[in-house]
Amino acid sequence: DWNAERAAAIIAAGKDREGPLLPILHGFMAAFGYVPEPAVPMVAEALNLSRAEVHGVVTFYHDFRREPAGRHVVKLCRAESCQAAGCERLADHLEEKLGIGFGETTPDGRVTLEPIYCLGLCALSPAALIDDRVVARLDEKRLDAVLAETLR
Ligand code: FES
Repeated sequence: DWNAERAAAIIAAGKDREGPLLPILHGFMAAFGYVPEPAVPMVAEALNLSRAEVHGVVTFYHDFRREPAGRHVVKLCRAESCQAAGCERLADHLEEKLGIGFGETTPDGRVTLEPIYCLGLCALSPAALIDDRVVARLDEKRLDAVLAETLR
């Protein structure tokens, strides 16, 4: 879980580097699994930025999660090649099946659904990353089978 002291230590360690914002935010991701909202003003103050500026960066990069993730994380590739291979249909399927949108976690904390932008598997589109497992050539049926295995 996040704590202010640990966040302060990450900020202190990173703030004198060149281009300190991204490494500090990545430090939060590594330590807490997300960028805690109360850490945003701490970073802003340390780097002489406005909260809105820090916030803008956190929301701009898909790498930064703003809430703790669920026990499982499903990342569906939504970049060009996977789009051409029909990933939007899979996106709808996942949203319906899990009852959540992208960037959200099921209320029971079991699954977080996120987009990812190219897994380097374009030849095997559509692809996804389910926890640490890469799955490719997906269709609804295969996706359901992998989910059933992962989420049981
Ligand atoms: Fe999806 Fe490259 S676009 S793997």
